[in-house]
Amino acid sequence: MGLHKLTQSDKNINMKILAIETSCDETAIAILEVGDGQLRVGKETRPHFKILSNVVLSQIKIHKPYGGVVPNLAMREHKKNLPIILKRALRDAGINLSPNKNPDVDIIAVTYGPGLEPALWEGINFAKDLAEKRRVPLAAVNHLEGHIYAAWLNGGNPKFEIRNSKWGLEHPTPFPPPLKKGRGIEGVRFSVPQFPLLALIVSGGHTELVLMKKHLDYKILGETLDDAAGEAFDKVARMLGLGYPGGPEISKLAEKWETSPQRGKRLFPRPMINSPDFNFSFSGLKTAVLYYLRAIQEEGHPSPFPPPLTKGRGIKGVRSSSKNRIPLKIKTAIAYEFQQAVVDVLVKKTADALRKYRVRSLVVGGGVAANKKLRATLEQLIATKFPQVSLFLSPPWLCGDNAAMIAVAAYFKARACKFPKPESIIAQGNLRLQ
Ligand code: KG4
Ligand code: ZN
Repeated sequence: MGLHKLTQSDKNINMKILAIETSCDETAIAILEVGDGQLRVGKETRPHFKILSNVVLSQIKIHKPYGGVVPNLAMREHKKNLPIILKRALRDAGINLSPNKNPDVDIIAVTYGPGLEPALWEGINFAKDLAEKRRVPLAAVNHLEGHIYAAWLNGGNPKFEIRNSKWGLEHPTPFPPPLKKGRGIEGVRFSVPQFPLLALIVSGGHTELVLMKKHLDYKILGETLDDAAGEAFDKVARMLGLGYPGGPEISKLAEKWETSPQRGKRLFPRPMINSPDFNFSFSGLKTAVLYYLRAIQEEGHPSPFPPPLTKGRGIKGVRSSSKNRIPLKIKTAIAYEFQQAVVDVLVKKTADALRKYRVRSLVVGGGVAANKKLRATLEQLIATKFPQVSLFLSPPWLCGDNAAMIAVAAYFKARACKFPKPESIIAQGNLRLQ
């Protein structure tokens, strides 16, 4: 199918998009089939995305010993793995990209920023080569718009959930059921985000609140002035001697404190929670955890915050002689209280933005959106304070980095005929949403 069909008014077409994502430590390729206008809900028609393949190769094991991502190692791994992953993605999707045949994909998409430039370049060069040889148009996607557009995916596995506060439904099937001719979809209230929408992006590199009045139109309402939320999770995890990435580790540990009667001591500050803007700051919170740990570890050093556990008796279970060794109970309490501080700030600022901008949907994306506490608190916020707003929380496998989300963003770019000249596509480590 040729690209020209994208602009035709008859939208009952299918196209396939192959997307490549290498902005950080995940090498990812996905192939999506998009049926434009096939999904009818009431009077509206919506594109229907089907994930044909979604391969994500994580380099976590390689970077783990360093406690964070090493750009040159990431680059080397992307280079080595891209051809292997492409083969796998094509095989999963049952697609042929042989140069001698008409290619089976209509668009190739690639992330060009923000991220680690050496890593981004690997994906960009690979995509350019592929697009040129197969004579397929190349779309350039901002990683952050990918995180937002993940919300348009109606899942690719049976565990898919899409919560809609208005309808109180979880999407029951991985894909929309087959259409009954002329009658749209019966019995399934299927939903995609509606504009205007608010997006909360919470990842390892970014924390942003973004207002979208229409497709591909982004207004950054606020962002972090220092560390991103995910970065704070990773750094605090390192202080606690937990593994990388830190978010899931802290979350797991925090769950163990969930039922403790000693929880909720507010050990740590909530930076900027009451500031009149929509900006965030997490570096002070991270430092507060550091000081707290130091106070515990250093003999006779008074804690800068009230003792977390036993009032008036210092911290139960910590012997001052056990320098540098943090008892599990203390680690668990810190993980819980730190996570709670992050969630409090993210949710309060989101609530402020929802109050100010009367949006129809709230989309949450990025690795930290997989955090159970954040998800539960946002669900409660929407249910109790903003029932008119539909909340879109992707399943965890779509929150973290993947290429399926890049393909969705590319589809909307293609629909707007936004294709840059391939030679003008360069890696932009600090690319902003615009
Ligand atoms: O979006 P992402 O996969 O990559 C970036 O674009 O940065 O986000 C990765 C970040 C890491 O900082 C990781 O610790 C965090 O998301 N993360 C979590 C959870 N799962 C991943 N943070 C909190 N709770 C989680 N369950
Ligand atoms: Zn990301």
